[in-house]
Amino acid sequence: MSEQVKYLLDESKLPRAWYNVNADMPVPPAPVLHPGTMEPVTPDFLSVLFPMALIAQEVSAERYIEIPEPVRDIYRLWRPTPFYRARGLEKALDTPAHIYYKYEGVSPVGSHKPNTAVAQAYYNKISGTEALTTETGAGQWGSALAMACSFFDMALEVYMVKVSYEQKPYRRIMMESFGAEVFASPTERTEYGRALRAEHPDSPGSLGIAISEAVEAAATSGGRKKYSLGSVLNHVLLHQTVIGEETLLQLEMAGEYPDIVVGCTGGGSNFGGIAFSFLRENLLNGKQTRLIAAEPAASPSLTRGRYTFDYGDTARMAPVVKMHTLGHTFVPPGIHAGGLRYHGMSPQISALVDAGYIEARAVRQLQTFRDGLTFLRSEGIIPAPESTHAIAVAMDEARVCRESGEKKVIVFNLSGHGHFDMTAYDAYLKGRLQDYAYPQEEIEAAMRDLPQVAMAAD
Ligand SMILES: Cc1ncc(COP(=O)(O)O)c(C=O)c1O
Repeated sequence: MSEQVKYLLDESKLPRAWYNVNADMPVPPAPVLHPGTMEPVTPDFLSVLFPMALIAQEVSAERYIEIPEPVRDIYRLWRPTPFYRARGLEKALDTPAHIYYKYEGVSPVGSHKPNTAVAQAYYNKISGTEALTTETGAGQWGSALAMACSFFDMALEVYMVKVSYEQKPYRRIMMESFGAEVFASPTERTEYGRALRAEHPDSPGSLGIAISEAVEAAATSGGRKKYSLGSVLNHVLLHQTVIGEETLLQLEMAGEYPDIVVGCTGGGSNFGGIAFSFLRENLLNGKQTRLIAAEPAASPSLTRGRYTFDYGDTARMAPVVKMHTLGHTFVPPGIHAGGLRYHGMSPQISALVDAGYIEARAVRQLQTFRDGLTFLRSEGIIPAPESTHAIAVAMDEARVCRESGEKKVIVFNLSGHGHFDMTAYDAYLKGRLQDYAYPQEEIEAAMRDLPQVAMAAD
């Protein structure tokens, strides 16, 4: 093979369908429960928050779901995304491994998040929703949905975790430029926000709190507004599978097939997006790719959380699902990978990790920045702090190959660029960052607040 670096697909190769892993799940799904009654939810309850088309996708068992043409039209602005052979990184590591990465940072807002934002805005628009509400941490998800809503001419309210609102103004300004309204959460706009501020006037906010506010704003709007979530749910992971479907075609162009596929996990959407297509090949076509989810040691839901039923938000308004969780009262430490600071995890990925189909690994913050800089200096792209977790695990596997002499093929998802995260790199370069592993006592304390669910025998 030549020294080819980029594998580019023509627009005509843009996938026509998302892959629905529900069709091939080797373990049955656990029911989704109502946060008040702990009984399985009805579509009626969910329809307060989501349009019917997305609820149907959440539970669909069809293997392929057609991507609507208006969504494909918008995908074409940046998709298919490029697939790279990381020749510079291979040289820097002196490894016989072949390292490849799929680059989702070429989307207009800089990450994989628009793959689902555009789809969710579309289904809401055609079902008559007037406005969407959502939360955002560091702002990648909020800016993706702000772009999608501007394309479909819908209003958007974003509840942005207060500490990020104050420290990261550029993402807020990007959302506002697209026409979204952005509020520092906790706000005075919701009952939950007001109660919380009365008790803790200086609360810096959290993703769990912002989710509660966005859910309340939609649930009390008399049907005019719906809620949109950027990760965790089945339909979100479904929309992200466009990544894995393209990657399979690009590997074919390179004449290779991966031994290992890696993605970072906050709520699981970019990892599911790249990994599920390879899981399908493992389950149906006898392939044996190892699938590795990379998470922060500071927010280790898959490696140290419990696989049980828990609320999706802090105020206990969101549905209760079975997942790996650190407890909905989890207070995230101030690590710089803002998009990975969530207490729970996708129920699909949780079930697959529990049953041994997916591996999970926790990485410490200093390693992620060190390896992220090695990647930058050999490949030229500043990775998002979230994506550096995938880089670190891929590099560890390539180092193993250096020791063993094996020529494994390693693929990872570079979920976004870090152009708005330079203060984090500055802190690392100035020696101000520290490693932090979440304390066991805190995990055990949070487990005491889990909901009591009769069927949560785990
Ligand atoms: C660049 C990037 N990668 C990864 C994530 C983690 O989310 P998920 O696990 O849903 O892919 C985020 C979340 O905000 C993100 O912005």
